[in-house]
Amino acid sequence: MTPQPSASAISSLRKAFAFMRPYKMQIALATLALVFTAAVTLALVQFVRVIVDVGFVAGSSQSLGWAIAGFMVVAVIQAMGTFARFYWVSWLGERVTADIRTAVYGHLLTLHPGYFEENLSGEIQSRITTDTTLLQTVIGSSVSVALRNLLMLLGGTVFLFITNPRLTSIVMICIPLVIGPIMIFGRKVRHLSRSSQDEIANVGAYVGESIQHIKTVQAYNHQHTDEKVFSNHVESAFKVALARIRSRSFLITIVITLVFGAVAAMIWVGGQDVINGRMSAGELTAFVVYAVIVASAVGSISQVIGDLQRAAGATERLMELLHAPSNIVSPAEPLSFPEPFRGEIVLEHLRFHYPSRPNTAAIDGLDLHVRPGTSVALVGPSGAGKSTLFDLLLRFYDPQQGKVLVDGLDIRNVDLLALRSHIAIVSQQPTMFTGNVRENIRYGRPDATDEEVMEAAKAAFASDFIEQLPQGYDSYLGESGIRLSGGQKQRLAIARAILKDAEILLLDEATSALDAESERKVQMALDSLMQNRTTIIIAHRLATVMNVDSIVVMDAGKVVAQGSHQQLLATSPLYANLAALQFAANRQNE
Ligand SMILES: Nc1ncnc2c1ncn2[C@@H]1O[C@H](COP(=O)(O)OP(=O)(O)OP(=O)(O)O)[C@@H](O)[C@H]1O
Ligand SMILES: [Mg+2]
Repeated sequence: MTPQPSASAISSLRKAFAFMRPYKMQIALATLALVFTAAVTLALVQFVRVIVDVGFVAGSSQSLGWAIAGFMVVAVIQAMGTFARFYWVSWLGERVTADIRTAVYGHLLTLHPGYFEENLSGEIQSRITTDTTLLQTVIGSSVSVALRNLLMLLGGTVFLFITNPRLTSIVMICIPLVIGPIMIFGRKVRHLSRSSQDEIANVGAYVGESIQHIKTVQAYNHQHTDEKVFSNHVESAFKVALARIRSRSFLITIVITLVFGAVAAMIWVGGQDVINGRMSAGELTAFVVYAVIVASAVGSISQVIGDLQRAAGATERLMELLHAPSNIVSPAEPLSFPEPFRGEIVLEHLRFHYPSRPNTAAIDGLDLHVRPGTSVALVGPSGAGKSTLFDLLLRFYDPQQGKVLVDGLDIRNVDLLALRSHIAIVSQQPTMFTGNVRENIRYGRPDATDEEVMEAAKAAFASDFIEQLPQGYDSYLGESGIRLSGGQKQRLAIARAILKDAEILLLDEATSALDAESERKVQMALDSLMQNRTTIIIAHRLATVMNVDSIVVMDAGKVVAQGSHQQLLATSPLYANLAALQFAANRQNE
């Protein structure tokens, strides 16, 4: 994915910088404060020089007093400048991180569902949280540390030259010696940082899944195995981190040795000058302080370069996410459905395989025509491609061949939001979101009134059980509706679809988890809902599809027969067989 680390890191940094563009005023304030505090710090050293030369060496306590008073004034100004610097730089870090988080999440929501089959959801989550946090510390502190120290380095060097050019040459010779190892180790740190974050993301994904399915984990006594797998992940994250820490420790050691070696050399040379009277004690003090400022600036920069490079790794991944192309997008110039929307569905020579299974067609040359306002049942063995057909209708995937026409328009030429606004679906696994009953039903139409929500619940035969919940419609359902039974979830999903009131209704095994009595009731509600609405019902229990206008038998991605129950009994051996098995079983039960 990353052909040239440096090039892609730079381009992703550029993309990240785009997020700072709206905050020019804040950047200006931060920069001003940054330059100001750096300048004041350097100026303070001049007071030190005066204090030493005038106060200590000349022994004038009045001058010492003035010098110290000046020192204090400048110090207070410095403190205020530091306040502004810290405030605005942190502000930028928080603001930009918040923007990036929102942008990444917003983009993720538009990606084609297939993307999440290839990329683990836990890993993506960890990127949004861990990587952005890393970015936040970097923008909110490391960058400012780097810039401040860069200014100190430059300013300090200038003052060094002014104070004593000869001594300064010693410092200058040392600088390349210090910068060289920083560059070499820094690069290594960046690579290691990327893989360390990747490992952490893996760990996150693993935890998320096992906690979500804790009952299965414990029912199969899988705790020990999971723990082992998890600890392997953690250990390899640790190893990568260790390698990173090792490189960084080396870096710091080298820098410290070089820097203090240079300082020692300076004091030795400068000390000779003071002894010989070529330089005042105050000058040497100022010089050493400047040298220490310059040295610690180099040291700080070398430390934050590691951070900056880690951040570059994090940014690279975030920008990858942010710019992940969606395979399913609205066309640039979408066509509009003719008014009024009728809900006619035509599938023409449809051929489709899932991206992960290029050699197995899930839909294999399928033709189907559903007239507006009519109902069709899809029956057929498991794996025949029934649910896949719904995915294609909602355009979660595009077929490799053939087309899906809704009201005469190829759905690839229509705006995605417009298409989906006309379709209500109850999917095979009803999905609940963390929240209460009301919120979950209202998902179908966010602007629905409380009365409309209750009506929909009533129509889905859900109101009885909802009213028995501790807080009725306000009852909290837990994560993914964990506090509901399977059949209750199904009825809420049906209520949600009823509330959406779309012209096309797709029901995928919508009543499969209900007992016979509830199923009969929900079926009655659905029958009235289906009036004048294009409806496709997927069902395994043939008894539930007796009232549809037409039954379509699917097998291995194809339509193998179509007609009424009676017609199919005569024409389709597959259907006759299904019917014989089911109705025989029913008779036995009676
Ligand atoms: N996301 C996916 N990636 C790859 N293959 C998939 C995916 N989803 C389904 N399939 C495969 O596509 C085929 C059709 O699946 P589909 O879910 O449409 O069957 P179905 O008719 O709805 O079956 P059931 O009655 O069991 O729900 C199956 O062979 C299945 O393994
Ligand atoms: Mg299915």
